[in-house]
Amino acid sequence: MDLKINGKKAIVTGATRGIGRRIVNQLVEEGVSVALCARDADAVNETISDLTANGATAFGAAVDVSDGDAYRAWLNQAVEQLGGCDMFVPNVSGGGGGGSEENWRANLEIDLLGAVRGIEELTTSLQASKGAVVFISSTAAVETFVMPQSYNAMKTALITYGEQLAQALGPSGVRVNIVSPGSIYFEGGSWHRIEQDRPEVFKSIQDGIAMGRYGTPEEVADVVVFLLSPRASWVTGKNIIIDGGQVKGMRF
Ligand SMILES: NC(=O)c1ccc[n+]([C@@H]2O[C@H](COP(=O)([O-])OP(=O)(O)OC[C@H]3O[C@@H](n4cnc5c(N)ncnc54)[C@H](OP(=O)(O)O)[C@@H]3O)[C@@H](O)[C@H]2O)c1
Repeated sequence: MDLKINGKKAIVTGATRGIGRRIVNQLVEEGVSVALCARDADAVNETISDLTANGATAFGAAVDVSDGDAYRAWLNQAVEQLGGCDMFVPNVSGGGGGGSEENWRANLEIDLLGAVRGIEELTTSLQASKGAVVFISSTAAVETFVMPQSYNAMKTALITYGEQLAQALGPSGVRVNIVSPGSIYFEGGSWHRIEQDRPEVFKSIQDGIAMGRYGTPEEVADVVVFLLSPRASWVTGKNIIIDGGQVKGMRF
């Protein structure tokens, strides 16, 4: 299937590893120019070198999304470098791990405001091209997961914001969807660390997944890239769960 995105321009945050990196890989394979960020400058440079060595147009910067001013400045720089923005994926998270005030602030600043600030800076460009946005939430937003923590609640807020944003931006031709992955395994990722540090937890999570295994970043990226493409032209304001049957509740 031709996704019809060759020549488009995308901004993806947190794309030096994991889901963000696979989204960028898949976008450039389809002929999309990308701008990405992460905090580690070496990892950004390495990612850009890999992508451009294979012929892609890719720009990168070391930016901490929790620094609102630096983040907004980078988004505007990225639009200039790309010559516009057709697609936006705010993928960075403040991570799970607790319910301290520090956790709540991190998830507010990064998961939620990372999306909000991005939309504020990019809406004009997205409207100019009738573009598409995908937020990255989590199954932790839709079903009880581990403990009452800021990550779960802020990922839920992100779904509500995204679904209502789709209503506001729909008339101007911009689609907004949310992807909620279940547990995704990759080397260097959170589940890799849990596998090493707490193998019993790793196994109990795996046993709860209907497909009997963790998901891969590629399995999430494939759906994200489809949603960003005009092949999903009638899909907006939806939260798409990608979890191999990890979530047990039934939704009608
Ligand atoms: N992995 C899972 O099982 C899973 C499940 C459900 C949802 N998700 C969601 O999927 C998204 C990606 O998670 P992931 O597990 O694939 O990757 P990850 O290990 O969380 O890292 C993703 C990327 O974000 C960058 N990053 C982290 N904090 C940043 C910050 N403050 N500013 C800028 N960049 C930052 C990282 O590079 P630096 O460290 O160099 O900054 C890296 O490139 C997140 O929103 C996460 O909540 C993941």
